Amino acid sequence: MNKLIVSLLLTVGISGVAHAAGDAAAGQAKAAVCGACHGPDGNSMAPNFPKLAGQGERYLDKQLHDIKSGKRVVLEMTGLLTNLNDQDLADIAAYFASQKGSVGAADPKIVARGEALFRGGNLEKGLPACTGCHSPNGSGNAAAGFPHLGGQHAQYIAKQLTDFRKEDGGRANDGDAMTMRTIARKLSDEDIAAVSSYIQGLH
Ligand code: HEC
Ligand code: HEC
Repeated sequence: MNKLIVSLLLTVGISGVAHAAGDAAAGQAKAAVCGACHGPDGNSMAPNFPKLAGQGERYLDKQLHDIKSGKRVVLEMTGLLTNLNDQDLADIAAYFASQKGSVGAADPKIVARGEALFRGGNLEKGLPACTGCHSPNGSGNAAAGFPHLGGQHAQYIAKQLTDFRKEDGGRANDGDAMTMRTIARKLSDEDIAAVSSYIQGLH
């Protein structure tokens, strides 16, 4: 067989594995260790541990690969993904995606500012509306890999926006387009507090 065909076959084979469909039932058993922080069904109690229940499968799978490779640093998860292969990660993503996410409540004092920002962005600052990608009810766009935000802990959301905003040592796994880093750098502390609170109550 010539080299070109061999490498073509390899490419097709590898991408076939990378996109292996997740098996939610198999994922439940593999996710047992995750429940201590994220909750057995992915609805965590602690506001610094993100809820995974109802999150898009594609987004979850990407984050798991990014955390495993160190592209996104999560110290609390050090070593936990080392022995999991692509199929394990896909199964775990399918499991949490199949669970129903719980919803919290927004702080009435700042919810109006948060809603205006989420729905309308800020023209002066060149800030797009969050709804464009995360949808008006915060459910995201699972097929595109845009995360579900609605009902997520405000404290966790605020930390992510603050991390995306950092020039160094923050969260930088949003791709070459730097979509979320560009957006977060236009947000003030007050914007972040308000939009995070709004998101916590959004459903
Ligand atoms: C000791 C606590 C702990 C355990 C155990 C743990 N995680 Fe996490 N996980 C975290 C924390 C904390 C974050 C958020 C870090 C940050 O602020 O960016 C996180 C983030 C994540 C995210 C990203 C969520 C998002 O919305 O972007 C995924 C996915 C995830 N964990 C999956 C898992 C899986 C799967 C397991 C089990 C194999 C697991 N975690 C075990 C603490 C934990
Ligand atoms: C052009 C599309 C787009 C727009 C507009 C957008 N986002 Fe995002 N957002 C994304 C994508 C894509 C990701 C996932 C990045 C990755 O792969 O890690 C993301 C991730 C996030 C996360 C991390 C979620 C998690 O579970 O860790 C938060 C929080 C967030 N966005 C908030 C916002 C807010 C608030 C706005 C409006 C001010 C906004 N986004 C506007 C595309 C967008």
